[in-house]
Parts: sequence; structure tokens; C-alpha cells
Amino acid sequence: MDNRAIGVFDSGLGGLTAVRQLQKLMPDEHIIYFGDTGRVPYGSRSRRTIIQYTRQDTAFLLSHPLKAIVVACGTVSSVAMGTVQQEVSVPMVGVVQPACRRAVQETKNRKIGIIGTKGTIQSGSYEAGLHTLNPSVQTIARACPLFVPLVENGRFRTGDRVAELVVEEYLQEIRAFGVDTLILGCTHYPLLADLIRAYMGDQVTLIDPGAEAAAYTKTFVEPCEPGNGRTEYYVSDDPDSFGQYASVFLGGNETVRADLVDIASYETIRKGNQKG
Ligand code: DGL
Repeated sequence: MDNRAIGVFDSGLGGLTAVRQLQKLMPDEHIIYFGDTGRVPYGSRSRRTIIQYTRQDTAFLLSHPLKAIVVACGTVSSVAMGTVQQEVSVPMVGVVQPACRRAVQETKNRKIGIIGTKGTIQSGSYEAGLHTLNPSVQTIARACPLFVPLVENGRFRTGDRVAELVVEEYLQEIRAFGVDTLILGCTHYPLLADLIRAYMGDQVTLIDPGAEAAAYTKTFVEPCEPGNGRTEYYVSDDPDSFGQYASVFLGGNETVRADLVDIASYETIRKGNQKG
């Protein structure tokens, strides 16, 4: 048994897609979530800045005893994880590989769509991951920069006319390409899943990378003793607004209380981590 926590981070609400699945699959785990709400979005920033933010987010999480870090952010997984991983002694799980594995398993016609932030799409990370697993898949990718601000502002519910229009504009070409599988390559996007499904049709399988990363995490972490299950939430700005939307997304039964963190003060990654 290993009672250390699992750290999870993202630029904002998106990483809750991984938290929700971790809570479901591993209810006895202690989870520490950090959402960098003061600096969201990450997806339009330079590689240098994304690496710097990733170092700080990781350093904050490692100020707690951890047994693994789930990088619940497509942008960080695509752009910065390769660099920061080498500086950290606990395993880091990104979202790209688990999502690609699931997509290749699900597709029948071998046409897979990928949507993500500008940083993720420019990196080509999902295409590379898919083609390594199956060189014969055909891919079509599109950056959807307005999706993250929509989600962070709570505009993810069915019937939201603005969100519906943006979904249509971004997904038109992908639908016309005839994909049967669509990777929601930014962890914020599953919050828009109902709107995306309504536009793409039920025949298209939507892949949730945060959920896939959580499922993968379960395969290798040593579990906590029973009865330890709890989640702590931290953000870099506006804990009340985060808490309100997080409660809706996590099912509404749980009142989410988040604490504020001065993330800019975390610079140094502590390599070691005590077993609790
Ligand atoms: N949810 C993140 C991702 O998966 C970050 C989105 C953003 O901050 O731009 O890419």
C-alpha cells in the first residue's frame, strides 16, 4: 500500500475530466488537483512559457508527498512533458499516448479526427502517436482556440447557441472527412461532449484523454489503504468560480472548495518524495 497522493494538473477546469475518472476507478486515492486558472489558456502560449508553467505546477504538486503526477493537459503533454519529466523522480502520465491507444482500438474505418489547442495541434503529437501504433490510419486535425474560454466561462451546456455555433464552425471539415473516432485532444473539450456529439452524430466515438490517462494510471500505481479517498483542489485565481463550475462538472453532489496558490513562487522541482 502507498498512501502518497496522486497529483493532477491542468490550466483550469479541463483536468477535472481526469479527476472524475480517477475518483470513479480509484475511490480510495488521495488526489491533489491544481488548476492554473490565473494563467489559462496555455494552448496559445510559446513552448518556453508552457515549460516554465509546467515546472511551477509540478513543483507545487511535489510540495506534497506524491506517487504519480497525471498531466491532465493535452498542451503540456504535447509540448513540455518530455522536458520536465526528466527533472522529476515520480512517474508522470500524459494524456496523448493513452488517448491514441484507445482511438486506434475504437476506429473501424481508420479515419480519426483530432481537435486540440494551437500548441497541441502544431506539435503533431497525436498524429505521431497514432501513426506509431497504426501507420495506416488517416488523420485530420484542427485547433479550436475558442473552446477553452467557452468552458472556463461555463458555456458548455446543451442549448448554448454561441457554443453550438462555434462547435459547428470548428468541426465542419472533420465531419465531412467521415471520421468514426474523434480525439478530444484538450482536456477541456469533454465538458463540451454533449454539444460535440449532437453535431458529429452518435456513430462517432469521442475519446476523452483525461479519462484514458486516469485509466492508465490505475494500471501501475500502488493503491492507497481503503478509506483514504479524498480530493484537494488548488487554483491560482478565483477559487469560488472554479468551485462552482467544478461542482457542476463533477456531478453536483460534491461542493468543491478550492484554495488559492501563489504559483509564481514555485520554481524549483524537488526530486525526492517521501513514502507516506
Ligand atoms: N486543458 C488543456 C489542454 O488539454 C489546456 C487548455 C489551455 O489552457 O489552452 O490542452
